[in-house]
Amino acid sequence: MPIQHAQLHWDDQGQPLSSAYDDVYFSLLSGLEETRYVFLQHNRLSERFAALHSGDCMTVGETGFGTGLNFLCCWQLFEQQAPEDAQLHFISVEKFPLTAADLQQALALWPPLQDYSEQLLQAYKNIRPGRQTLLFAGGRVRLTLLVGDASVQLAQLDKQIVDAWFLDGFAPAKNPEMWTEELFGLLAQLSAPGATLATFTSAGFVRRGLQAAGFAMQRNKGFGFKRQMLSGQLQGEALAAQ
Ligand SMILES: C[S@@+](CC[C@H](N)C(=O)[O-])C[C@H]1O[C@@H](n2cnc3c(N)ncnc32)[C@H](O)[C@@H]1O
Repeated sequence: MPIQHAQLHWDDQGQPLSSAYDDVYFSLLSGLEETRYVFLQHNRLSERFAALHSGDCMTVGETGFGTGLNFLCCWQLFEQQAPEDAQLHFISVEKFPLTAADLQQALALWPPLQDYSEQLLQAYKNIRPGRQTLLFAGGRVRLTLLVGDASVQLAQLDKQIVDAWFLDGFAPAKNPEMWTEELFGLLAQLSAPGATLATFTSAGFVRRGLQAAGFAMQRNKGFGFKRQMLSGQLQGEALAAQ
């Protein structure tokens, strides 16, 4: 099956919008600040990267690779905080990848990330359906990109490997397929002990579904105009039951 690319249009600020889902890829106020606040801060990645030891590897999982903004921000923070010989493994799943041209246009919005964007664009040219590994920073940063449906692709991974999750699959009301009990169960199975998660949404059924899957959930102040967001942590009992 060939890749089915994302159908996009651009607003008058040059920001990408999904035509298929009628939704934004990131906050139109500031995608960069939203990523840092929602996903990096609420998974406490700055502190956790700084606490890594020599040779440690931290694994971050994401639902919805989109423009790669979350990946690039995470990689940048990792370089700023982690010891030199620690490693980052970023696993992300994407059903409708942007074309290379659209990715380039989207990432041009973030000059501070240019060094990282250029490397991603170079590696992204050859993506194909299914699982692929893209290496950056001399192999210290590894991106496993799963091109396909989230539930199908994530079900094929080894269990208990992800330390922190970014749940970013468009608004639940617009894309309920990315927020199912099946997917929440998979996230718990793939989580390492004590794994954390963060998401921009505060939808009640997402909070309850993640709780039922074994995550202790809390509501936090949302980014920008959003009143609330959610963060969580896998509880020990859920692990013992697996
Ligand atoms: C809000 S965007 C993600 C933004 C992204 N994290 C970034 O940094 O730009 C949501 C993404 O989820 C993808 N998606 C939607 N449904 C999916 C599914 N069932 N499986 C995998 N990816 C899906 C969309 O194609 C879109 O790229």
